[in-house]
Amino acid sequence: MLIIQNFAVLEGGDGSGTTTQIGFLRERCAARGQKSPHIHLTFEPTGGPVGTMIRAVLRGETGLLPETCARLFAADRNEHLYAKGGVAERSGRGELVVSDRYVLSSLVYQGLDCGEDLPWALNRAFPGPELLLFFDLDPAEAMERIRSRPGRDRYERLDFQIRVRERYLALLPEFERSGVRVVRIDAARPPGEIADEVWSALGTLPIMNQ
Ligand code: TMP
Repeated sequence: MLIIQNFAVLEGGDGSGTTTQIGFLRERCAARGQKSPHIHLTFEPTGGPVGTMIRAVLRGETGLLPETCARLFAADRNEHLYAKGGVAERSGRGELVVSDRYVLSSLVYQGLDCGEDLPWALNRAFPGPELLLFFDLDPAEAMERIRSRPGRDRYERLDFQIRVRERYLALLPEFERSGVRVVRIDAARPPGEIADEVWSALGTLPIMNQ
């Protein structure tokens, strides 16, 4: 698999805290000021036109076939990666890009929704990240966190989240074999501790040590 250097992703089931950690990173980056490298924080589904459509589907406002959703996630990713100011351009010019979710989310979630073949076909051409941080959390605990939030997305059900964790654990070794460095984060720990661990993991990337 082709790897994009200077690109790290956070992956995990719903409620595992990846978005919270992007928030911690944002604070850390603000405190760091103009230091090099610039760290660009981003997420999927994106805030672009395709990502916005996906969010409406996730909230249950629009009904689309699972196969259509799989294609939308891939289309959104293509924009995220290759549009002007996207992941490829930024990482290529020496920024560190950190994304909340990427290809593995599609292989896991859409793999469960519409079978493995279509998500693989739609995503196999995307390059891998240099580093993948997997947020591992007991799905029952994740559901407790989700229940304390307003609203509920389409995938936020215990039975589905149990299968999501199983799929992540099954697919991670394949990613490792294809050259992606994988770090498992115990997502049950206090968010501040996790933030330190995320920061140290990012600190091991060559771009952070130039
Ligand atoms: P979020 O909760 O991290 O904002 O992600 C939104 C939901 O979208 C989450 O349930 C995971 C799901 N998702 C997919 O199903 N496939 C994908 O490719 C991505 C990026 C997210």
